[in-house]
Amino acid sequence: MRDLIEKAVSTSRLTRDEIAAVLGDNSCNQELFAAADRVRKQFAGDEVHLRALIEFSNFCRCNCLYCGIRAGNNLVERYRLNREQIISLAKKASASGYKTIVLQSGEDIYFTAEALAEIVAEIKKLDVAVTLSIGERSYEEYKILKDAGADRFLLRIETTDKSLYEKMHPKASFENRKRCLYDLKKLGFETGTGCLVGLLEQTYESLADDILFFKELDADMIGIGPLIPHEHTPLKDCSAGDLTLALKVLALTRLLLPDINIPATTAMETLHPEGRMMALQSGANVVMPNVTLDEYKSKYEIYPDKANVNYGELSEKLRQIGRTISEKKGFRGNSDRPLTLNSVTDLE
Ligand code: 5AD
Repeated sequence: MRDLIEKAVSTSRLTRDEIAAVLGDNSCNQELFAAADRVRKQFAGDEVHLRALIEFSNFCRCNCLYCGIRAGNNLVERYRLNREQIISLAKKASASGYKTIVLQSGEDIYFTAEALAEIVAEIKKLDVAVTLSIGERSYEEYKILKDAGADRFLLRIETTDKSLYEKMHPKASFENRKRCLYDLKKLGFETGTGCLVGLLEQTYESLADDILFFKELDADMIGIGPLIPHEHTPLKDCSAGDLTLALKVLALTRLLLPDINIPATTAMETLHPEGRMMALQSGANVVMPNVTLDEYKSKYEIYPDKANVNYGELSEKLRQIGRTISEKKGFRGNSDRPLTLNSVTDLE
């Protein structure tokens, strides 16, 4: 195991079998987490980037078996913020120092690309980075959003096991999800993806494939979270994903993609009171506090008992482990300028 961890640190490469072997063996977990922490420090630095998360609509056309806001859950009270409400939350977040605004929603086609583009353009006037997390759209729609100034896009692949994917996402197409991710990369978005840990039937090999997919896509951000069963979903009786396994997937992702941004996800904190800090010491360098008003927050329940971020507590805990809160936008590699298509060509 130690040799495999060393190989991952020095080459940023492991085979599928090697990744699966590390995931399946618990004898060197502390060494793995420490190695990921060192690589994080070397490639992403000690700054932690905060992203202000605005959950602007919980309407969703999808029926993901695990998700609390799935279309089929009639017990959810649906809401949509209007343009002014969204912009005012973004202004508040920017005024309190956030350098990135994340606009997240269910797959709500009420918001056309044009309508969202107007909101993005308005928020971009605040000199912040804008991340979208709104699900699957066409290349043309993504282009409208990119042209409006959106910098980043989050769309988890959830699992790269096609048959498991199709079981978890009724009527959804695995191929289309991949298409979306490659379109986003092509358009120059910093592209985030990621997976759920603890989906039924998921194997170590399948998680290894997820990590290799992140590398193949050259993802700029990776969100990894354990599954947390929601009582109003078909997966209500499943057991929750394993936090240690999720941390191991995170740590291996850091070793294989050293300079990317990796959030300490809320799902980890929900499973363990120190989950966020554990993630930040196992390869993560981003935290995404939810700035949605409480009234709506409670309705955006993708899983139960979602943890909150207390700013004072977080900054104190970060200080104790030698980390600081970044005042930069925090693009990949901790630069303050997004990698544009031009700068890619400049290098050629
Ligand atoms: N438990 C944990 N994570 C979940 N997500 C959705 N439902 C759950 C759940 N029950 C995650 C998905 C999605 C992200 C926004 O939230 O991975 O991409």
